[in-house]
Amino acid sequence: MRLDKLLGNNGFGTRKDVKQLIRKGTVKVNGTTEKDPGAHIDPETDTVTLLGEPVIHQEFIYLMMNKPQGVISATEDSRDRTVVDLLSPEEQRYEPFPVGRLDKDTEGLLVLTNDGKLAHELLSPKKDVPKTYFAVIDGLVTETDIHAFSEGVILEDGFHTKPGILKILEAGDRSEIELTITEGKFHQVKRMFEAVGKRVVFLKRLSMGTLRLDASLEPGAFRPLSDAELAELDPRKKG
Ligand code: URA
Repeated sequence: MRLDKLLGNNGFGTRKDVKQLIRKGTVKVNGTTEKDPGAHIDPETDTVTLLGEPVIHQEFIYLMMNKPQGVISATEDSRDRTVVDLLSPEEQRYEPFPVGRLDKDTEGLLVLTNDGKLAHELLSPKKDVPKTYFAVIDGLVTETDIHAFSEGVILEDGFHTKPGILKILEAGDRSEIELTITEGKFHQVKRMFEAVGKRVVFLKRLSMGTLRLDASLEPGAFRPLSDAELAELDPRKKG
């Protein structure tokens, strides 16, 4: 990696700023002053300091966001604001992307990272990662629905879903439920309720694998995953 890129990527200013810092002789690589911004270094093995302070290289970023309604789960879009637009330039520098998609009108837990392997761990259909949603349903949700979901339902295109665990929190003309599923087909929760003749009017994701949405995050807010959350979520990061 170029020396100016390492400093730029780790919060020491714009590429122009860091070039100046390097040319002024403030940066050392393995104890020797390096004045060439284009010098190649290995962030894993070389020790880089700026005015004597070590430059710590962070390759990956892991964020938990409470996705608000009205923004789309993508990195860029010509019409709508995206979840990446909600981040500051500081985080955007790492080029994070959302792990999976929530609909524009769905709120809740979304992980943003630039770690493709973690994304694969969470999204691969083979891994059966459970995702739990809270939903408000237009209509009375009943024991019959719990039973139907426990066997998997047939969507309008003929797809037979895997079993889902449905919990009724409040039953009425408008019902409140929690649903845990291990698949992530397009509009899956909405389509599962359509399969039993009901309509989702509000949807929020509460958890994904071991990760639960931090209840203190307002819609649109985000924070880094803690080391413990990351270790739980990604078997590769354990011990
Ligand atoms: N199921 C849906 O229908 N929408 C989402 O955003 C997520 C799951």
